[in-house]
Amino acid sequence: MSERAEADMVTVQVRDDIAWVRFNRPEKRNAMSPKLNRQMLRVLEELEFRADVGVLVLTGEGSAWSAGMDLQEYFRDTEAQGLEGVRRSQREAYAWWERLRWYQKVTIAMVNGWCFGGAYGPLYACDLAFCSEDAQFGLSEINWGILPGGGATKVAAELMPMRKAMYHALLGETLSGREAVSAGLVNEALPAQQLEARVTEVAKKLLKKNWATLKATKDAMRRVRPLTYDEAQDYLIRAQEALNWHDETDGRHRGMTQFLDDKSYKPGLGEYDKSK
Ligand code: COA
Repeated sequence: MSERAEADMVTVQVRDDIAWVRFNRPEKRNAMSPKLNRQMLRVLEELEFRADVGVLVLTGEGSAWSAGMDLQEYFRDTEAQGLEGVRRSQREAYAWWERLRWYQKVTIAMVNGWCFGGAYGPLYACDLAFCSEDAQFGLSEINWGILPGGGATKVAAELMPMRKAMYHALLGETLSGREAVSAGLVNEALPAQQLEARVTEVAKKLLKKNWATLKATKDAMRRVRPLTYDEAQDYLIRAQEALNWHDETDGRHRGMTQFLDDKSYKPGLGEYDKSK
């Protein structure tokens, strides 16, 4: 077991309504150990409902975003504890990925380096993903004798076209940042020195939008995927009606007023002014 304290496994800075959350095991390429997984869940719980957090960015210290599950501490050590140890450590990992998938705030993966295997869980959980051009992505499981578990196969099948996903999983080769964009794993790849500025720019744009609407929209995008058209349409009607009730700022009426009466903005070209 590594000697580092559990509380050190993740760092957090909140600046200008953006929470910068970092995997903090650079010496192990931010591999996800049970300690890191437990601490990440604590951090996410602490940040989720804070009024000074509108967007959460998940990134990594050092040369990795995350090298996936920790082969020593997540696999070998927990297997030595038997089924109970395995199931407990799976729950600890899956719990924070699930929390992130349905997080109250918009989440952005800022992939600064290596991203392997189990790291596809949190990658998919984040709503948007930006990477460094020199980041590398891989389903490396095939290279060490397991299938891409913990959701990684599902992530590749969800995000990538079938042929690309199959090649990716069977060959275990890495994709560069740009290749990850064309494969559908991330939104954009940028030169490393521009990555944080671009993510900050996107986060600031998101912060100007109606927060209740962002949450309803991101959930809807994930929910409708397995539904039929008719089921999706019905879900979206109910979700909008729920939003009308829950949006205490009454955004849609303010948006309509500013466009139709005040003529102060055009919804096709930008958001209404939340301060009015
Ligand atoms: N689990 C456990 N330890 C890991 C790890 C992982 N997934 N990834 C990296 N580490 C450890 C290494 O064992 C090494 O530890 P040590 O210094 O005590 O020997 C340390 O992190 C640095 O790794 P190293 O391989 O020297 O770094 P690198 O920069 O040359 O290579 C990787 C980086 C990510 C390409 C390489 O570490 C690797 O292939 N990791 C495994 C990736 C993987 O298959 N993940 C999927 C798991 S589901």
